[in-house]
Amino acid sequence: MANNNVTTALKSCDDFDVESIRKDFPILNIKVGDKPLTYLDNAASSQMPQQVIDRWIHYQTAQHANINRAVHYLSEIATDAYEDARRKVQQFVNAREDREIIFTSGTTDSINLVMHGYGRQFIQADDEIILTTLEHHSNIVPWQMLAKEKGAVIRVVPVNDHGELDIDAYEKLFNERTKFVGLIHVSNALGTINPIKRMINYAHQQDIPVLIDGAQAAPHMAINVQDLDCDFYTFSAHKLCGPTGIGMLYGKSALLEAMQPFKGGGDMITSVTFEKTTYADIPHKFEAGTPPIAGAIGFGAAIDYLNMIGLDRIAAYESKLLDYATERFLDIKGAKILGTAAHKTAVLSFVLDGIHPHDIGTILNHDGIAIRTGHHCAQPVMQRFNVPATSRASFAFYNNESEVETLIKGIKAVQKVFL
Ligand code: ALA
Repeated sequence: MANNNVTTALKSCDDFDVESIRKDFPILNIKVGDKPLTYLDNAASSQMPQQVIDRWIHYQTAQHANINRAVHYLSEIATDAYEDARRKVQQFVNAREDREIIFTSGTTDSINLVMHGYGRQFIQADDEIILTTLEHHSNIVPWQMLAKEKGAVIRVVPVNDHGELDIDAYEKLFNERTKFVGLIHVSNALGTINPIKRMINYAHQQDIPVLIDGAQAAPHMAINVQDLDCDFYTFSAHKLCGPTGIGMLYGKSALLEAMQPFKGGGDMITSVTFEKTTYADIPHKFEAGTPPIAGAIGFGAAIDYLNMIGLDRIAAYESKLLDYATERFLDIKGAKILGTAAHKTAVLSFVLDGIHPHDIGTILNHDGIAIRTGHHCAQPVMQRFNVPATSRASFAFYNNESEVETLIKGIKAVQKVFL
């Protein structure tokens, strides 16, 4: 991955012991048939280290109860552990206050929360919402629903042939009707790292709030929401070595306070009568019902694990691995990488002449190689590059060069089948 911190980070990754890190991930030892697993589908979901599994089991075996509801021993322990996880997320993204962190079921849920809580209140007919061609469907469909309901308009930032956003075109999209900007930090389909700080800054010059979909960024680089000055930032735990069904939404406190809750129910109120309900303060106003307590605690444990390794070291290691994989890929005739941005995470999205991605994925699976094939929930990216689908190998810090070699060998074997 090439990002702005990479020079500093590269210095600190010489001692990155990937083989020792791999021992933390029990699933990496499984076999697919008689082949060792080569797991290269980390953009869809990363794997969980033993430390996170152990924390989860400890919670389930010694700490589980519902939270915020009782004065008994277990409820107090579970409540403390849940709120401790919130503080870990707060520190992980350098938010000012822990009440700016809302636990959601994941990135999609977070964006829907902002659409309902902010969009339905502050976006009206003829208002414009700026998105980019690189967005995942989760940052397109909710805004389309809102646009349909309100009569608002979606404007789209184009990308160049490398998969980089056209920033001049982005700036030209703003006008007096612009009310909201939604940006993907890192493209899940191509790996492009977008210059979001500059884009947020430009939007703020026009007083427009910006939501960042950080699902593919947070696992790979340090995130600092105060430095970015974004209004909303969201990601899911399961892409950063945590459990599924839990994610975070950061929002600036003033915005969260001004927003309506998305879901109503228990635990998000201060009082309820049949005449009137008053809502709890943030973040609880947005956490109706029993939350995924075990998930939040697992999320916190995943953050501890990533902090132990260091996001800068992860970024540097993955950058070297991407360079190695890209170089090795050039060895394959008839293969083309989609997404050649100057700043990328460790994603190789590719097409092979005359072979459908689903066939590639199926044959690679026979060799124990897990990649994702399809449109990656980013159909506008596929349309931009005139392909129905790509094959995507996405790497994590526990992947190694030997797995890159397995992939290259596997792709060459796929080509032989279709000769
Ligand atoms: N959004 C995830 C991916 O890119 C699921 O695979």
